[in-house]
Amino acid sequence: MKLPARGLTRDEIDQQLQQEATKDVDWKGGKLWTLVYYAGDDVAEVLGETFKSYLYTNGLGPTAFKSLKRFESEVIAMTANLLGDDNAIGNMTTGGTESILMATKAARDWARDQVPHITEPELIVPVTAHPAFDKAAHYLGVTLKRVPIRDDLRVDLDQLEAAITPNTIMLVGSAPNYPYGTIDDIPKIAGMALARGILCHVDSCLGGFFLPFMRKLGEPVPRFDFTVPGVTSISADLHKYGYSVRGTSTIMYRDGDLRRYQFFSRADWPGGLYGSPTMTGSRPGAAIAASWALMQYLGEEGYLDRVKSTMDTTRKLIEGINDIPGLTVRGEPDMAVFAFGSDDFDCYALSSAMRKRSWDIERLQRPKNLHLVVTPNHESVADQFLTDLREASDEVRDQPATESGEPAIYGALESIEDTSNVNDLILNFIDSLTRIESE
Ligand SMILES: Cc1ncc(COP(=O)(O)O)c(C=O)c1O
Repeated sequence: MKLPARGLTRDEIDQQLQQEATKDVDWKGGKLWTLVYYAGDDVAEVLGETFKSYLYTNGLGPTAFKSLKRFESEVIAMTANLLGDDNAIGNMTTGGTESILMATKAARDWARDQVPHITEPELIVPVTAHPAFDKAAHYLGVTLKRVPIRDDLRVDLDQLEAAITPNTIMLVGSAPNYPYGTIDDIPKIAGMALARGILCHVDSCLGGFFLPFMRKLGEPVPRFDFTVPGVTSISADLHKYGYSVRGTSTIMYRDGDLRRYQFFSRADWPGGLYGSPTMTGSRPGAAIAASWALMQYLGEEGYLDRVKSTMDTTRKLIEGINDIPGLTVRGEPDMAVFAFGSDDFDCYALSSAMRKRSWDIERLQRPKNLHLVVTPNHESVADQFLTDLREASDEVRDQPATESGEPAIYGALESIEDTSNVNDLILNFIDSLTRIESE
């Protein structure tokens, strides 16, 4: 394929854009239960308009773009306040993965400087922690150890403690983890880190802009933030429950000295003095400005309203699902993210039956479960979802275990112990994504 010889008209392009969008899942209609955190047309308008007016700006040049310097500093200061320490300091990044990469880079370089006898640094994370930690460890040459969770779906503290070695530089807890929405015992994890003089990162990519408001609403929220002694860094995503545009997260540090290890500089490059706070070189100014504008627009009240309605919807869904014979919500989720499954029938067959009813529900594995990330956008569809879920459960309840089709493939993949072939499949799939299909 080549560039079109002459540019298309705006109408021609719009037509194609609209046509292609019809192939996507109906996320705006609340059919998708992951990936998108839609908080209303007014929010979209604030983001879109701000994005447009800051479209070409670049956060790599804070002296050229004093506006962005102000917006990023203020987003970080507001985030620090939400996370329990006005003196915490950080940076905006392009997402949870970059924030976690940055926390790991800071930890690695802190260890090189402060505990240089450690030549093979290790991170210890719960088995439920996001694969961004594996990615960070892989990119940065750090060893990652995963420890199991207990029956309550929070990390097993005894096993975590037993996994610590003289090479351990950082312990990690999630607030909450993605699969189950449960918060690990952060005070205990941070206490173990503090006692050994090592770092403790809290992955609050999901909860960072949700849990503080839940707490303000008087909901019981386990302690997870900088008020916990020993927590040294926290990742909190703006593009999840911060409701900002894709490509926005924060990485926060209790201590500016630790943050310095995150930075990168090059003093002798012919292109000039070069310094960059995060992973990317150029930084999307439009996303920084849009996040700032949105936080100003929503204010505490706007976030509280959305968190309240989302928690009301979550409780309705949890109750409704537990009411359907054979279905159970797993553990006691701490916020609006949770897993549910069945000990009686194949929940993957249930997700296929729901897909026929146009719902897109994610599948978890080891063990098999289904997954919901509830957002303000789901309030209006929760009743229909439950009605369809009941009907779909009735449909699959007495089905014999499927021997072919999608559930069977998933089932087979799940039972494979050596995952190297499955990894190959995943890599082949990713490889195929940017190749143009011949129709
Ligand atoms: C708990 C948690 N951490 C990290 C991430 C990674 O975030 P991103 O996809 O923005 O890189 C996610 C994404 O869902 C998450 O749920």
